[in-house]
Parts: sequence; C-alpha cells; structure tokens
Amino acid sequence: MGTDTTILWTTDLNTGIEVIDGQHMRIVDYINLLGDAIQQHNRASVGTVLNELVDYTLSHFSFEECLQEESGYRNAKTHKAVHELFIKRLGRYMEKHHAGEDVAQQLHAMLSTWLIQHIKRDDMDYITEVKAKINHIVKNKNEGNWLSRALGKFFA
Ligand SMILES: [Fe+2]
Repeated sequence: MGTDTTILWTTDLNTGIEVIDGQHMRIVDYINLLGDAIQQHNRASVGTVLNELVDYTLSHFSFEECLQEESGYRNAKTHKAVHELFIKRLGRYMEKHHAGEDVAQQLHAMLSTWLIQHIKRDDMDYITEVKAKINHIVKNKNEGNWLSRALGKFFA
C-alpha cells in the first residue's frame, strides 16, 4: 500500500556499501509502514511499527558508528553526536506518543525529512573513507569476519 507521503527509493540514496544500503532501505520501509498505519488510523499498529522502527534505527546507528570507527573516519565523533541528538529528539516524540498524544503524523514527517537528509548529507560524507577501507576491514581481521560479527552484535 502507498500513500502520497510514501518514500520511494531513488538512486541518490545509494551509498554503494551494500550492507548500509540494505539497512537504509529497511528504515525507509518502516517509515512507509508507519505512514500506512497512520492513514488507517490504526493506533495499535502505529505503536508496533514505531517500536520496531526505533529499535532498528538504533541498531543501524550503532553499526554505522562502529564501521566508521573501524575505518578511522575523520568525522566519526561528529557523526555519532548527530545520531545522539536525533535519538534524543526521537525519545521526546516517543514519550509524547506513550502519554497518549497524537504525534504520529508529526513524527512521520520528521523521520522522513531527517533520515533522507541524513543519508544524503552526513552518510555520503563517510562513504568514501569507509569504502576505501571496507574490504580490508571485512577480510583482514584476524578474529574472523568483522562484518558478520558486527551484524550479529547490533542486530539480534
Ligand atoms: Fe548516520
């Protein structure tokens, strides 16, 4: 199902790092599911989707931060701070939602705008550095496969 606010995946959202693009696509799917639940006035499924979306986004942020650290990305600290600010903002919305306030629509708009902008601006900035080192990170770690270990750690 789609609404007029459905986010369509466009090529300018591709970072070229498969594992990251897959996670971004899944977040976009969650935002779109949230849009559907809102349009159906289904508060129960708004709640369910919101929880899943927040959970998944936090895991994605942690994974991304770890990847940036591993590759020695110069702006890793700033990027993490940007994530943390967003998490705080998200937390305030979630509090309102749990208090029974109808913030879903506002939250949906904020998520769509913020995440798309974040991918296009902040994420694209780390891509070049991480891409240059990702093969090394994934293949040359003594302790086995870094990627599968990191995925297992952040995505239960
Ligand atoms: Fe990010």
